[in-house]
Amino acid sequence: MSDTASLDDSSLDDSPNIDAPAIDAPTTDPVRAPFEVKFASRVDRLPPYMFGRINNSLYQKRRAGDDVIDLGMGNPSDPPDPVVIQKLHDASSDPGNHGYSKSNGIANLRREVAGKYYRKYGVRLDPDHEIISCLGSKEGFSHMCLALMGPGDTAMIPSPYFPVHMYGVILASGNVVALDVADPDKFLRNVAYTCENMMPSPKVLIVNYPHNPSSAVIEPDFFVEVVRLAKKYGFMVIHDFAYADVAFDGYVPPSFLAAPGAKDVGVEFTTMSKGYNMAGWRVGFCAGNADMVRGLGTIKGYYDYGMFQAIQIAAIVALRETEANVEKQSAIYQGRRDVLVNGLRRLGWKVEPPKAGMFVWAEVPEPWRSAMSTMDFAMKLLEEGNVAVSPGSGFGTAGEGYLRMSLVENEHRLRQAVRQISKCLG
Ligand SMILES: Cc1ncc(COP(=O)(O)O)c(C=O)c1O
Repeated sequence: MSDTASLDDSSLDDSPNIDAPAIDAPTTDPVRAPFEVKFASRVDRLPPYMFGRINNSLYQKRRAGDDVIDLGMGNPSDPPDPVVIQKLHDASSDPGNHGYSKSNGIANLRREVAGKYYRKYGVRLDPDHEIISCLGSKEGFSHMCLALMGPGDTAMIPSPYFPVHMYGVILASGNVVALDVADPDKFLRNVAYTCENMMPSPKVLIVNYPHNPSSAVIEPDFFVEVVRLAKKYGFMVIHDFAYADVAFDGYVPPSFLAAPGAKDVGVEFTTMSKGYNMAGWRVGFCAGNADMVRGLGTIKGYYDYGMFQAIQIAAIVALRETEANVEKQSAIYQGRRDVLVNGLRRLGWKVEPPKAGMFVWAEVPEPWRSAMSTMDFAMKLLEEGNVAVSPGSGFGTAGEGYLRMSLVENEHRLRQAVRQISKCLG
């Protein structure tokens, strides 16, 4: 199987040559029911978009000229390093970079990713067989689900969940078992329990640390146990490592691939969206088990032609030359975390400072927690306080009672947000 299989026009030559009889044109067309678009059942399995109400109201307020402080999405607002932007400019001036690129990413970019894994985690990867570039890690993750899952297959996912961890599996026609993510030991016990008691046993385990939305983190031993369980019960592992580069107070998020034997059982997704402030560029990677990487490459070979080559070249420069900027960006998020956590604590909220990631996961305080749903509380903050946050219920029922607040606004705006929340809650 080629890792860049693609269809071209010659494949049409294989179509059966049907010699259909001529149809007599009817003199009057029969009257039919109104034309209806019928979606595939996989689309009907998706729930209404949970953040739609918040986003609608945010949009209306901004149109009306209100200055809303947006702590909803984890969409970085700081720019990439200037050398990366300059490289994109230079590379996009080269006519040779405007054609289709390779769907699995150019070799030098994959080599650079292997270099970073070795420098940062001591992990050796073969850039030709164990790394593939994706159009952002979300695209790679969802297509990996399509490569691995089908009807009757089950994935274990963290709960509360980042939506694509649930719906990537659902769209691939699989089923999910959602396991409480807050306590890593309990999570692992639940993985073992699910494998012992479910028939057929789950096919895939999806993990995500530092976790979005809850900011839960783990130590390296966690992944040693994940590999042991994967070998014992025969499930594959997908680690979403989106917040690999955003950590505070000296904590270093461990890579799944650094656990002995990890490459036998799974892959890890990383991204340039967060630490490198390149979210709109759509640069992500999948690394690890060669067969799983090849499976993803096969799907991608049919679906896409790879990233714009100038972006891939600029991404090489980002990985090679801007590590110091990535650390600086973490320090910026750490400062914002302190402002927001301290401010909310002054208002009497129970909130733990996260060790990594781009979010504060805060319990809705009483009396509001008992008086209204988390969605209604988030709407109140938006409509009366001009502060947008994500209600925890958007990440599954386990998120009810919590809010996710992102650290994308600057310290001044975060102080202002706390003042506005205080005023709105009286
Ligand atoms: C846990 C997690 N995984 C994946 C992504 C998507 O990252 P990318 O921009 O690489 O698609 C995000 C973005 O918010 C995320 O929080």
